[in-house]
Amino acid sequence: CAVRHYKFDVLIKNTTRLCSSKPIVTVNGKFPGPTLYAREDDTVLVKVVNHVKYNVSIHWHGIRQLRTGWADGPAYITQCPIPTGQSYVYNFTITGQRGTLLWHAHILWLRSTVHGAIVILPKRGVPYPFPKPHKEVVVVLAEWWKSDTEAVINEALKSGLAPNVSDAHTINGHPGQVSSCPSQGGFKLPVENGKTYLLRLINAALNEELFFKIADHKLTVVEVDATYVKPFKADTVLIAPGQTTNVLVSADQNSGKYLVAASPFMDAPVAVDNLTATATLHYSGTLANTPTTLTSPPPQNATQVANNFINSLRALNSKQFPALVPQTIDHNLFFTVGLGINPCPTCKAGNGSRAVASINNVTFIMPTTALLQAHFFNISGVFTTDFPANPPNVFNYSGTPPRNLQTTNGTKVFRLAYNSTVQLVLQDTAIIAPENHPIHLHGFNFFAVGRGLGNYNPKTDPQKFNLVDPVERNTIGVPTGGWVAIRFRADNPGVWFMHCHLEVHTTWGLKMAFLVDNGKGPNQSLLPPPSDLPKC
Ligand code: C2O
Repeated sequence: CAVRHYKFDVLIKNTTRLCSSKPIVTVNGKFPGPTLYAREDDTVLVKVVNHVKYNVSIHWHGIRQLRTGWADGPAYITQCPIPTGQSYVYNFTITGQRGTLLWHAHILWLRSTVHGAIVILPKRGVPYPFPKPHKEVVVVLAEWWKSDTEAVINEALKSGLAPNVSDAHTINGHPGQVSSCPSQGGFKLPVENGKTYLLRLINAALNEELFFKIADHKLTVVEVDATYVKPFKADTVLIAPGQTTNVLVSADQNSGKYLVAASPFMDAPVAVDNLTATATLHYSGTLANTPTTLTSPPPQNATQVANNFINSLRALNSKQFPALVPQTIDHNLFFTVGLGINPCPTCKAGNGSRAVASINNVTFIMPTTALLQAHFFNISGVFTTDFPANPPNVFNYSGTPPRNLQTTNGTKVFRLAYNSTVQLVLQDTAIIAPENHPIHLHGFNFFAVGRGLGNYNPKTDPQKFNLVDPVERNTIGVPTGGWVAIRFRADNPGVWFMHCHLEVHTTWGLKMAFLVDNGKGPNQSLLPPPSDLPKC
């Protein structure tokens, strides 16, 4: 195994999209940012240098960070941010993972433009468990705002209302065909007849789950969140922010130019945003201007398309890559996730109230000292360990929104013994309205053992859980008006953030953290912090 060195210069770059320019925060001047390549078992050192006026931190989304929480990246959770003019070296080893992940800024809304791919190749000499593709292509899906995204969220926080939605979706940085700016080009994917391609799809959007499809071409799904799945064919892939999906595409259409489309999935009664990003898959010999074979993306509320895709996902669970699903449970947790309304006398636009979000009715308040530091150095007063295992109120979660359900503020963590097993049911709560929440857990992969609509039934639903080959991932959509059950083993000591990967919901407080104690054996403790860890 090798040591790989990267340098990420965080700097401002003037960038033109939708026929207008604005300065954006980038890594090395690129949007999307550079791809980080490594092999399983490699050690990666990324020196991040902050040249912008904002504090910065970078998260390696989905990398397990075994015992190296200091390199995880969420600001004020595992580190204080890197101040202007300073740098920090993220130092981690990739253990037991191969596939596609993403890195992104983990502070404020900088992730809108500060993101890129992580490609982890298998160990040398270990083949993929699927036919070797002719070529591999990283495809990053994201969003574009004409205005400055920090201004967008600050304005929303002041008013108490929801922020503006983006002006476009993007495929590898480009919106493609949009009527407001017909002159701009889109991403082009050249293929040769008869060859097979591996697309490494990443949803780096701030606030949108996306459908992805290619006209007249089936997508064979082989991996999600850097874990192999039983291959299956799909017309449309659903991919939530923070999720990654590897698909094989066979160029089996002889010739032509085919539309590639990324469009939003949102089955809740909230702001509509039906912009589709487009790109072109073109066979060699054709000029790649505009696609001639079209396809229409699913409607925004195509719940059935979404469910079909999700229900097709199974862990590969081969001899070489077994699904190690915890069969017993030490902690049986039930968390409601949802949106709420709190009083806000200064919020004039919001009529004296503001949108908030919570888990078990706790709206997480960011600390000013990083939780991991407070934990490691025993600094008191930064967090409390009383995060509730169950919601304070029992009601019909997916039914009519109840009245007077405001949230309480707190910086609360849930404490787990080393190597304990956790079953966590995440139930969407209709305090305002039901909505889909892609929940991301740092530091672990988990198994998605169950999923359902309506209220979770603790008596009957567990009998239907898949404890054999459930899909293993790091980010999972809690369905609108429904629930998911996940299981994981707390084998990674440290403090691990869990939050909705729709950035607006995280900003509103849909987040919490697990504190995992050290084990007693060798190699079961959090390592000490590196000497260049930024100070608060
Ligand atoms: Cu990809 Cu805490 O985030």
